[in-house]
Amino acid sequence: SSKNKPRKMIPKGLEAAHSMRDKFRNACATPVETLRKISQDMLSQMEAGLQSDGESRLRMLLSFVEHLPCGNETGLFYGLDLGGTNFRVLRVQLGGKEKRILKQESKVDSIPSEIMTSTNEELFDYIARVLADFVATEGVDCNLILGQKRELGFTFSFPVSQESLNSGKLVKWTKGFAIAETIGQDVVKELQAAMERCKLDMHVIAMVNDTTGTLAGGRYWNEDVMAGLILGTGSNACYVEQTSEIPKWPPSLPKPEETVINIEWGHFWSPHIPKTEIDDDLDAESVHPGQQVFEKLFSGMYLGDIVRRMILKLAEQACLLGGVTEIPSNMATPFVLRTRDVSIMHEDESENLENVARVMETIFGLKELPLEVRKVIKDVCEITAARGARLVAAGIVGIVRKIGGRKKKICIAIDGSLYEHYTKFRAKLHEALVELLGQEAAAKVVIELSKDGSGLGAALLAASHSKKDLEDKC
Ligand code: GLC
Repeated sequence: SSKNKPRKMIPKGLEAAHSMRDKFRNACATPVETLRKISQDMLSQMEAGLQSDGESRLRMLLSFVEHLPCGNETGLFYGLDLGGTNFRVLRVQLGGKEKRILKQESKVDSIPSEIMTSTNEELFDYIARVLADFVATEGVDCNLILGQKRELGFTFSFPVSQESLNSGKLVKWTKGFAIAETIGQDVVKELQAAMERCKLDMHVIAMVNDTTGTLAGGRYWNEDVMAGLILGTGSNACYVEQTSEIPKWPPSLPKPEETVINIEWGHFWSPHIPKTEIDDDLDAESVHPGQQVFEKLFSGMYLGDIVRRMILKLAEQACLLGGVTEIPSNMATPFVLRTRDVSIMHEDESENLENVARVMETIFGLKELPLEVRKVIKDVCEITAARGARLVAAGIVGIVRKIGGRKKKICIAIDGSLYEHYTKFRAKLHEALVELLGQEAAAKVVIELSKDGSGLGAALLAASHSKKDLEDKC
């Protein structure tokens, strides 16, 4: 019976596991020459995407942001941030250049996963209700002038095709969201209708992508901020572009000097990107097959699942758990291993890799894994994260080159739990930037964490585009 089986490793299994791990490492390798080609492809696809819609995998969506916040903004504004695992509502009182943020309050909620795939009405009613409850907690100190409408900045972290700052049609859902009827609809209208159903009297001034919100939040404090980056559930970037460089700008619309472009880099692809069978399987079984293939290599929603799939493959085909136990059945369940778990295992510096053991036990019920097995698991985390972080660096370099000599120093505001909490991912990203740009040029690219900046950024954009205080515009 299985009880009498020896619980020690079968050496042959370990050998096979090592060779499979090495193959995986080779397949995921990103030498600097490869990264250079990838960043060149990012740059040329960005250019192609500015020519006209549909010319590139990169949509290069126009944001119609005209004034980035500068600090002069005053008044009470709301923000609503929808698009990741969390959903946030916030209220901010702005006191102008000297006083800046007088007060900020927020509330985080998580979107129930069944709502992500329900109906327009259910989704928008859900968020409008949370917002209405939050507005009800507004204190008298908010000084809202009687009869004045509350103003909202709406961060909606999906590709939206806009023709003005406060309207836009959903191009497609990404990440875990999938509600067919929303596609092609004006999401601001949907939200506005839901707010009316909740008797919430509020006006959407700006709808922006989370990258744009993050950029705006960063710019409020630092005028060198030229780009916004999200490394969270999904991944994407935006940057400030001169409208003279945007051939597809609609001729019928007024043309400010600069605007923000939402790259939608999650859907980027280059033939130089290293991809494995595991990535193909993950994509094929995902909610949106064939879409967002770049983001699927590293963003928070997927990184853990790449690692899970590799461990499963090692167990099934290379006897990784040989002699220890049977393969746990939930090892075949998508998303049971989260990116957070990967970071814990990858960052385990203890001699016996106790954290690796703990994660494997908690999630898969695997007890007393031999050290050699723990090491292979940690290697898989390392290989996957390194590829992801280096690909992100290549993408950033593409943007930095697009911005070019316009600025002596380029600050990139970044948000997302992958960057914030996964220290080794962050370190590898920075290392790769230095490899790609050289020490001196890399020092001029400053990446600044702007925690939860995208919701605040949207509220700030509502403020900088509000008609209430036109005189104060920067
Ligand atoms: C996905 C969305 C994109 C968003 C990113 C980060 O890539 O398509 O709009 O910015 O996730 O949330």
